Amino acid sequence: MSVTISEAVKYIGVDDKTIDLFESQYVVPHGVSYNSYLILDEKVALMDTVDTRGVEQWEKNLLAALDGRKVDYLIVSHLEPDHAGSIGRLVELFPEVTLVGNAKTFHMLPQFFDELPVDENHKITVAEGESLSLGTHTLNFYMAPMVHWPEVMVTYESSEKILFSADGFGKFGALDYEDPEGWACEARRYYFNIVGKYGAPVQALLKKAAGLDIQTICPLHGPVLNENLGYYIGLYDTWSSYKPEDKGVLVAYASIHGNTAKAARKFAEMLRAKGVEKVSVMDLSRDDMAEVVEDAFRYDRMVLAAASYDGGVFPCMQDFLHHLQSKAFQNRTVGIIENGTWGPTAGRTMKGILETMKNITIVEPMVTIRSAMKESDLPAMEALADVIANA
Ligand code: FEO
Repeated sequence: MSVTISEAVKYIGVDDKTIDLFESQYVVPHGVSYNSYLILDEKVALMDTVDTRGVEQWEKNLLAALDGRKVDYLIVSHLEPDHAGSIGRLVELFPEVTLVGNAKTFHMLPQFFDELPVDENHKITVAEGESLSLGTHTLNFYMAPMVHWPEVMVTYESSEKILFSADGFGKFGALDYEDPEGWACEARRYYFNIVGKYGAPVQALLKKAAGLDIQTICPLHGPVLNENLGYYIGLYDTWSSYKPEDKGVLVAYASIHGNTAKAARKFAEMLRAKGVEKVSVMDLSRDDMAEVVEDAFRYDRMVLAAASYDGGVFPCMQDFLHHLQSKAFQNRTVGIIENGTWGPTAGRTMKGILETMKNITIVEPMVTIRSAMKESDLPAMEALADVIANA
């Protein structure tokens, strides 16, 4: 994929369209890109490598862009293998390369590469606000701990006003795939599932970025952003502060034989009839869990409908709530519909997990269905729909 950034800054990343699950857990039907950039100046700097899955194509891209020159510096923004995986190959190609990272980078590097032939004279340890001149280009380093991993740092190139943002502003999808849903859909799924737990560190990074004049954002996944940057930065501000992005309701259900599903769909109809414009109905047994997590964060309200199971709740609901818990889900209004044939337990189990999360308002009434939804259940469901529609 050819991406133009500027005369001196070249995109040399690769698309991966054959990976089954990114990070062994996220479906990526349109692939993912591992971005890597080269800055050609008096000195040549490489901004991260790629996953070993893409090393051969990346090496071709790198050598073509270098056109006979050598790499002087490798800036290691993030040590996760989808970016640092090909450091070993780079050092084989350019044994004189100097690695640039922070103290945490060099502490963690040997954990991945215990026999990397790079001596101390070929490592530069940078700290917050330090810079490295390449000639006319200057790299300024800002630490971004926990904007996914503790060693993450971003680099601002001041002559062309480019922010190399590491995982920040990343997105699922190969670069040659034009997403009909625009940038936000897969960027949001990426953000909440991968970086979602770390809202406070992302807020800290946004504050640093606010002091920089940025014209281009070069992330480690997804497209280079070079216009309307306020839109992307605004979404990151909303997401990282755990505020809902849209008014709407996620109805997530966990149904064994289809009866809870029927009740959930009926409940969604009630919400629509009461004027709720955005209602997303998700089957936790079958829909992409990462997309359900995304919708939970996207909307301001959520209704959980689940069957009782083994004295608790049907496992896919438990799994979903565990995902939300680990991603620091907070600040939302939640309604509960439980189903049970004898001694329903789903409601109190879901409530117990929700109560461990910050600022979750669980509204009444909780609806209890016995085995299958009947006419007699409708008034309680209507009452809950009224509360949710007006919350
Ligand atoms: Fe794209 Fe946290 O690695």
